[in-house]
Amino acid sequence: MAKLRNVHSVEDIRAIAHKRLPRAVNDFIEGGAEDEVTISRNRSGFENIHIVPNILTDVSVRSITTTILGTKVSSPIVLSPVGLASLAHPMGEVAAAQAAGKMGIISTVSSSSSWNLEEIASSSSGTKWFQLYIWRDRELTAEIVERARAAGYTALVLTVDVPISARRERDLRNGFTIPPRPRVSQSGDLLKHFGWFYAQLKSELAGHKMSMGNFTPGNVGMRSRLKMLEVVNDLFDPSITWHDVEWLKSIWNGPLVIKGVMTASDAKRTVASGADAVWISNHGGRQLDGVSASVTVLPDIVRAVRGKAEIYIDGGVRRGGDIVKAIALGANACMIGRPYLYGLAANGKVGVENIIKILQVEMDATMALMGRPTLESLDASAVRILNEVGK
Ligand SMILES: Cc1cc2nc3c(=O)[nH]c(=O)nc-3n(C[C@H](O)[C@H](O)[C@H](O)COP(=O)(O)O)c2cc1C
Repeated sequence: MAKLRNVHSVEDIRAIAHKRLPRAVNDFIEGGAEDEVTISRNRSGFENIHIVPNILTDVSVRSITTTILGTKVSSPIVLSPVGLASLAHPMGEVAAAQAAGKMGIISTVSSSSSWNLEEIASSSSGTKWFQLYIWRDRELTAEIVERARAAGYTALVLTVDVPISARRERDLRNGFTIPPRPRVSQSGDLLKHFGWFYAQLKSELAGHKMSMGNFTPGNVGMRSRLKMLEVVNDLFDPSITWHDVEWLKSIWNGPLVIKGVMTASDAKRTVASGADAVWISNHGGRQLDGVSASVTVLPDIVRAVRGKAEIYIDGGVRRGGDIVKAIALGANACMIGRPYLYGLAANGKVGVENIIKILQVEMDATMALMGRPTLESLDASAVRILNEVGK
């Protein structure tokens, strides 16, 4: 694919992705639960934090490198797990992991990835974490943990905000399913996005079927691939509790991250459970609509954790300056979800590299302009949080 021209922000790449993708795929990526209130809060949360600049500070030598769970990285940016990334681009999670490895950052592979976890692991040498759901079927869960260990994933990220799959109304209206079964009324839109359709068709014919690669008819008792989404949605277990985290610790003795923490008390519980990191997330507004922006709860969680675990945050990160704000408030890293799907849709692996590069360049520029040349020099005095009435 030719290089993208004249792209300078995540928003520029998002605009290209929007043009390339059919409506139902755009909706799947952009959409959230119910009124999508939490999606907009994730953005306004960052907007309501002002940066406080220091003048006449020597910023001639700057660095955004750091260490996350013991891994040296080029910047505190991590790819969040996103399911079905092949909808954005046939190479999906493989391309994303390769881009992350090339750019020196960590990528997290979703349980619901379109390529299987072994294919993704062997496609790049960068550090990769595996995101897990504790499925109703504990044998299947244990089997996947074992596969992740064998494939070389260095940490497990347990997502805990999906006791059930939320109602994403855009997907319901579009009749979104996996594998996609477009309605007659959607054929005009598909034709308008022929480039996407053709790339998907070529990939299917080459043997990469659009599905969730970690599940097979054998391991989930699926009679037909056409029922994939229904079968996997049925695997979410609404009964999981902290006891299941103990069980997970008994079968996985590597680093464990809990994703989906939104309160100080749950953050304390996460640390007490023996997890190595607290990942603040509202699933990018795709699960419980109406919860706060993740960055709004960050200061409380930092106080509660008291340095006993690393703290990560995702939801609405679209500028390097957002990452600078989160680090100043005590996060160790920021995760991105939709932005790299835009990169994938716009230009595959190179598009993801573009996204990471843009965020890194913006971080560096923000830190130079605000007089804080390193991540260590960022602290809460570097930002001012507006209250609810915007003062
Ligand atoms: C299309 C899509 C699929 C996702 N799939 C998963 C998933 O399989 N597992 C998971 O833990 N989070 C999943 N997420 C949530 C992301 O990991 C992350 O929390 C969220 O996207 C962050 O918000 P942002 O998109 O505003 O960056 C998904 C998000 C999107 C947009």
